[in-house]
Amino acid sequence: MIKAKMKLTPEEISILQGGQGETMRKTMETLVRYGDAYDAECLVPLDGPIHMVCSFGMPTLRPLFKIMKEYVAEGIKTKLPFTADPRPIDYVNVEATEKEKEIFHQIYADQEKYEVLLKKIGLKDSNAFSCACYFDEVGNIPKRGDMLAWAESSAVVYANSVIGARTNRTSGVMELFSGILGKTPKFGFLTSEGRKADWIIEVKTTSVPRPQVLGSAIGMKVLEQVPYIKGLDKFLGTELTPDVKDYLKDMGAATASNGAVGLYHVENLTPEAKDYGVSLIRPEAKTYVIDDAELRRVVDSYPIMWKDINAAPQLAFVGCPHNSFKQLCEWTENLERALKNEGKEKVAIPTLFSTAPDVLEKFKKTEYYPRLMATGAHLTYICPLMYTANPLCSAKRIITNSNKLRTYSVSRYVDDADLLKAVVKGGLK
Ligand code: F3S
Repeated sequence: MIKAKMKLTPEEISILQGGQGETMRKTMETLVRYGDAYDAECLVPLDGPIHMVCSFGMPTLRPLFKIMKEYVAEGIKTKLPFTADPRPIDYVNVEATEKEKEIFHQIYADQEKYEVLLKKIGLKDSNAFSCACYFDEVGNIPKRGDMLAWAESSAVVYANSVIGARTNRTSGVMELFSGILGKTPKFGFLTSEGRKADWIIEVKTTSVPRPQVLGSAIGMKVLEQVPYIKGLDKFLGTELTPDVKDYLKDMGAATASNGAVGLYHVENLTPEAKDYGVSLIRPEAKTYVIDDAELRRVVDSYPIMWKDINAAPQLAFVGCPHNSFKQLCEWTENLERALKNEGKEKVAIPTLFSTAPDVLEKFKKTEYYPRLMATGAHLTYICPLMYTANPLCSAKRIITNSNKLRTYSVSRYVDDADLLKAVVKGGLK
């Protein structure tokens, strides 16, 4: 048996000694070694389901499939039904040429087999594929203070900051091992000390900053540290309304991808900031002032990686992280208005809105669905980033309002208003 640095209970020691079989022993050993690497004090029981980052059946992940097959062979499942990131492919709603399909079939060659394995080890249901697993419709909704092991950066930052649950940016596969054991190592954001702020962000803009740009600025400055944001309550208020939650979802995803933020506090708004205020700020915290000029500087610093930067976009993606139900309704209204103002009926370039399968089903039952379809836009459940893993797709000139998609692909960031103009007029000019 390995010599663990962290304190273990007799039951955990027994698993580590093989008391529940070799597969559970290996799972426990890996989790203990992982926790020891971060000087975790102990393992803590999980209060909610895991959220898995790996939702795609890439052949390079065969070592993971091998582990999952071992679980299946022994009838081992996660303690609670879990959710996973979005699926990579949706030929019904996202057009693909035969050549593109050929490449998708190579990249995600094991998708079907992988989904079967996910279901066998405890995936909640066949709709449980969304990075916004905390949406009411999806139902993996933690409570404040819950100990979790989530591994999707945009979901982690939301759970920690907006809900006040406690999860690290758990490494992929470690979240699965945590789900199997129903425990996770206690370190980092699972401790009160790890949730203190290293930065004070002073928002001094003249109007409400675009969430994706504010998040980008914060992420690039603080990297993986914790920011305490002052001045945003002036624009957002002090209540977590549905609009505010959507704003924080999109801002958080940008902090987590343009940097590696896993937790932020917004003064007078997010739960811990409301309760503990400035006592959350470490004495040595640094200050970063964000005004209109700083946001302009940040946007101007984004490289445009299209071969011809003056050419018209070929595709627009909205929904990284996934759109909420409310956001889909708002985009429908905004698109209708923009088309009407231009005297047009349909969008001029393929426009894709991505959302959770459960949200999509709900949306389809409303009067908004035919209205959105009438604009020529499409609704899908995929992860736009996984779409761009196909070189034929990433070669397209894609515009997006997502700073996460911009960061990890060659897509071009545009704000919501410019995206609307571009899809209606067919160009950015
Ligand atoms: Fe979600 Fe994929 Fe974007 S997982 S946050 S849609 S990169």
